[in-house]
Amino acid sequence: MSWKRVCSANDVAANSLKQFDVDGVPVLIANLGDEFRAYPPLCPHMEERLEESGICEGGLLTCSKHLWQWEMRTGEMRGEAEKPLLLYELKQENDDVLVNIEKELEYEYEEDSEEDDDGFWD
Ligand code: FES
Repeated sequence: MSWKRVCSANDVAANSLKQFDVDGVPVLIANLGDEFRAYPPLCPHMEERLEESGICEGGLLTCSKHLWQWEMRTGEMRGEAEKPLLLYELKQENDDVLVNIEKELEYEYEEDSEEDDDGFWD
C-alpha cells in the first residue's frame, strides 16, 4: 500500500476534473462538491483524456465523445457505457488529497480490427 499526496483540495474546482502526475502515474481527480474520487485518466472506451472530454453533472461523469456515463462515486455504468470506471482508493487529510497507488490502473482496449472472428470456431 502506498499513499501519495496528489494535490490540495483547492486545486480541483467543484464538479470538475483535473489530471495530475503522481510519481509517473497519471491520476484524474474529480471533485464532486463534497467528496473526491480518483480514476485512471483515459476513457475506458477509446482512450480519450477525460480531463478534456468529461463532463461532471449531478454525480454523473459523461464522456462527451460517445456519451458513455458513470456514477462518479462508484464508477458504475450508466447511459451508453459498456465498461465501468476504475477507481483508486482516496482519502482526504485536512487540505491534502491522497491516493493509494499499488500499481497503475489501466483499461484493456480492443484492437481496432474489423473482422477478426472469422474462421475461429471450426
Ligand atoms: S471515447 Fe469516451 S465515450 Fe467514446
